[in-house]
Amino acid sequence: VSVVDQNAEIPVTLPTRRDPACPFDPPEELTRLRDSQPLTRLAFPDGHVGWLVTGYDAARKVLADPRFSVRMDLKHSPLPRRNVLAGSGDKPAPGMFVVMDDPDHRRFRRLLTGQFTVQRMRRLEPRIVQITADHLDAMAETVPPVDLVQTFALPIPSLVICELLGVPYEDHAFFQEQTAVAVDLDASVEQATVAAGRLTGYFADLVRRKRSRPTDDLLGGLITDSDLTDEELTNIGLALLIAGHETTANMLGLGAFALLCHPEQLDAYRADTSLTDSAVEELLRYLTIIHRGSPSRAALADVELDGQLIRAGETVIIGLPAVNRDPERFADPDVLRLGRDGARHHLAFGHGVHQCLGQQLARIEMRIGYRMLFERFPALRLAVPAAEISMREASLAYGVRRLPVTWEQA
Ligand code: HEM
Repeated sequence: VSVVDQNAEIPVTLPTRRDPACPFDPPEELTRLRDSQPLTRLAFPDGHVGWLVTGYDAARKVLADPRFSVRMDLKHSPLPRRNVLAGSGDKPAPGMFVVMDDPDHRRFRRLLTGQFTVQRMRRLEPRIVQITADHLDAMAETVPPVDLVQTFALPIPSLVICELLGVPYEDHAFFQEQTAVAVDLDASVEQATVAAGRLTGYFADLVRRKRSRPTDDLLGGLITDSDLTDEELTNIGLALLIAGHETTANMLGLGAFALLCHPEQLDAYRADTSLTDSAVEELLRYLTIIHRGSPSRAALADVELDGQLIRAGETVIIGLPAVNRDPERFADPDVLRLGRDGARHHLAFGHGVHQCLGQQLARIEMRIGYRMLFERFPALRLAVPAAEISMREASLAYGVRRLPVTWEQA
């Protein structure tokens, strides 16, 4: 990866390599670009020369502007290979509203927003508390060290999204394995396509069963209350299952790691329950896990942005980790401060019509998860030096692979 030479305007590929000594910070090159050229040209793996946005204001403008399309068949991918889950590449797969523009997108999004209301998510809270307590009880009964990813960060969001959607949790080993391959950018297109095919087959079967015997869950509700086809429901279920556990699991794991590495912040958090909400917003801002899978858009028309002309057909990628550390928007952006005013203005959930559908659910899981974890295990600490924690670099969402933790047993 080479940095743009200001004069020669040599484009770069999306900087993704992080400094192992600062695993929570965006790659240095991304930060440097933001500070010199918050809107810069960028070379994509297929040779296309598009744009990279690393400034907060420009990022918001692109994400809110209907002249930028989310369609895969119009965009050039910044990834070494295409995201096989979104469809074959020529057209969005039926129901894959995540890669559709309005008005198609709006039609699906409306149906789903009705299911993801703040009230409905609030009603889930007692169940999330129960699931979290059960996992922490089980963890307390083991002999440390344990891997916090396997005991806590991954199973909790996975179980929650399964119950919400109506997916049997007994099948979680299968879909977690297949999802891991489907989103692993080091896996080949063939391997990822096979995994995506297995997941699609699994959901198609589930939808058929629910169609014949209606269930009282989100997928069951969509079957009863809408005229969506089985193929659409299959892809919606798949999109929600993947988006709903991978991301939150990474935030729970990486967030716990960040807190353990900032003991003064963790002490303040433990001492003050009024920090519960702002801590989650600050962790979302500071960690901004959507990196390799950063939002990208194709310009449908010539658009002038910050004095530059983005031409129709050019792809723009938003470097979210740098955007959420923009010093023009956040004072001392590289400092983790759990009581930070205005942390909630981060773009970790995106912005505009495609802003994260599951954000209320993710917030509730994180509020409950971090709070209960550190209450139940006040002496929790890393079982290995921080530098030995292995990071998930080659995945759409950044996180820890394993987080060995220990505590003094009573
Ligand atoms: C969209 C981040 C959790 C479902 C997005 C986008 C981001 C994001 C950045 C915007 C993508 C774009 O504009 O191209 C996150 C993070 C999460 C999280 C950081 C956890 C901390 C969830 C959960 C669910 C979910 C729990 C489902 C239960 C979705 C869906 C979209 C989306 C369906 C696409 C919305 C649309 O296109 O209209 N998410 N997400 N996410 N997220 Fe999340």
